[in-house]
Amino acid sequence: MPLDIIVGAQWGDEGKGRMVDLLSAQADYVARFNGGDNAGHTVTVGDRTFKLHLIPSGIIHPHTIGAIGNGVVINPVTLFSEIDSLRSAGVEVNPARLAVSYAAHLITPGHRALDAAQEAARGRGAIGTTLRGIGPAYSDKVARSGIRLGQMLDLEVFREAMLSHIQAVNQRLTGLYATEPLDVQTVTQEYLDFARQLQPYIQDVSWMLNEAVKGGRRVLAEGAQGTLLDLDHGTYPFVTSSYPTAAGALMGLGLGVGCVERVIGVTKAFQTRVGAGPFPSEVFGEAAVRLRGTGEHPWDEFGTTTGRPRRVGWLDMVLLRYAVRVNGLTELAITKLDILTDLERVKICVAYRQANQVFENLRFGPGDIADFEPVYEELPAWQEDLRHVRSWEHLPLAARTYILRIEELCGVPVRLTSVGPERDQVVEIA
Ligand code: GDP
Ligand code: IMO
Ligand code: MG
Repeated sequence: MPLDIIVGAQWGDEGKGRMVDLLSAQADYVARFNGGDNAGHTVTVGDRTFKLHLIPSGIIHPHTIGAIGNGVVINPVTLFSEIDSLRSAGVEVNPARLAVSYAAHLITPGHRALDAAQEAARGRGAIGTTLRGIGPAYSDKVARSGIRLGQMLDLEVFREAMLSHIQAVNQRLTGLYATEPLDVQTVTQEYLDFARQLQPYIQDVSWMLNEAVKGGRRVLAEGAQGTLLDLDHGTYPFVTSSYPTAAGALMGLGLGVGCVERVIGVTKAFQTRVGAGPFPSEVFGEAAVRLRGTGEHPWDEFGTTTGRPRRVGWLDMVLLRYAVRVNGLTELAITKLDILTDLERVKICVAYRQANQVFENLRFGPGDIADFEPVYEELPAWQEDLRHVRSWEHLPLAARTYILRIEELCGVPVRLTSVGPERDQVVEIA
C-alpha cells in the first residue's frame, strides 16, 4: 500500500520532523494533514537546522512534492516567511513543488487576537495555547463561518469574506473581551496581497494524492502535535483543536482507508508536554533539569514554536498503549534515547494507582488522569554515550533491555531509535 502515516504518540514534539525527513528519502509526496503553525518540526542535516511550522518536513529532499491538506489551518504570514527561509537555505519551493488544498482554512489576525483574548479570559484555567489562532480558526470552520483558501481564487469574493470576518471578530473583541478592534481595511488589504501570492499554490490536494496513489507513488503523511493533544482522544480540554491521530490523516488529506500501509508512532524515550494539563509521570526539580537540559543544546526541551520550557517526566506506558490503540500503530520510532545516558536509574510508568486500585489501561480515556499516581518499574541504566552508535548490537545491553521492555509493554515493534538530532543518528532495529 502506498500511504505511510507518521503521528506523534505523546503530547507533541516527539521528533516527528526528523523521522519524516528520514522516511522522505523513500517517498514521492509528503503531506501535512492537521494543525497549523502551532507546530514546530526540527530537521537537522549536517550544519543546517530547519524549523518547519507549516510546510512538510520532507520538502528538504529535492525529489519530493509537498502538500498541505484540507485538515490544516494556514497563516499566510508564516507560510511565506517559511518559503523565504527555505529558499535562502537553497531549498526550492514553488507551485510545482508545493500544493495547498483549496479546502484548507485561513488563519487571520482576527483568529490570533481571539486566541489571546480567550486565553486571558480563561485565567487560571488557561490551556497554554501557542497563541497562533488555531482554536478560533477551527471554531469558525466548525461553525461554517470560516474562510477557505479556495475563496482566494476570486478576489472580490475573498474581499467580501474578509471584511465581514474581521467585522464579526471586532464585535467579539470589543463586546466580549473589551480589547482593541482590528483595522478592517488594513487587514483586508494585506490579505488580498497574500491571496494573489497564494493563488498559484491552491490545488485539489485530495485529487493530486489519489492520482499519486493510483499511479503507485509513495505518500508520507506528516502529523503535527500528538495523540494526547487530539481534540477527541487527547487530555480534553487541554488539547489542540484538530485531529493529530492516524484517522485525521485520511480526513485531512481526502484519502480513503484502503491505502494505508504503516502507521508509525513517534515517541520520545521519556515524556514531555508544553502547556497546561494532566501529566502523571511528570518530574520536578533536579530530575526535571536532567531530562530537560538547561537550554545549552539545541535539542534541550524548550518549545520550537514558543521557546517555553517543556514539562518533562518518565515514559508513560499507559498512555503509549492508548496511543497504539487509537491510532492503530503498526510500529514505534523512539527518539532521544541518547538523553537517558548516565542517569542513576531509568524509570518507566507501567500502570496507574488510585485509592487502592491499580490499572494498566484507561477506562475513560486520558481526560481525567490528573489524580492518578504512576506505578513505576525501574530498569538498569547505562553510562555509554550513544551518539555514535549506528547498530542494535552496539547499543549497551541496558538500552536494548529498555527498548525491548517498551515493545513488550505496548505490543508493537520498535523499528527505529534515534541517538541524536542529525539525519544519520539512527539505529534501525530489524
Ligand atoms: P516535532 O515537533 O515532533 O517534529 O519535534 P520538535 O522538532 O519540536 O522537537 C524535537 C527536538 O528534539 C528537536 O530539537 C530535534 O532536533 C531533537 N531531536 C530529535 N531526535 C533526537 C534525538 O534522537 N536525540 C537528540 N538529542 N535530539 C533529538
Ligand atoms: P508539534 O507539531 C507540542 C499544545 C500547546 C497547548 C495545546 C493547545 O511541534 O509537535 P494550540 O495553540 O494548538 O491551541 O495549543 O497544544 N501544542 C503543542 N505542543 N507540540 C506541538 O506541535 C503543539 N501544538 C500545540 O502547547 O498545550
Ligand atoms: Mg515541535
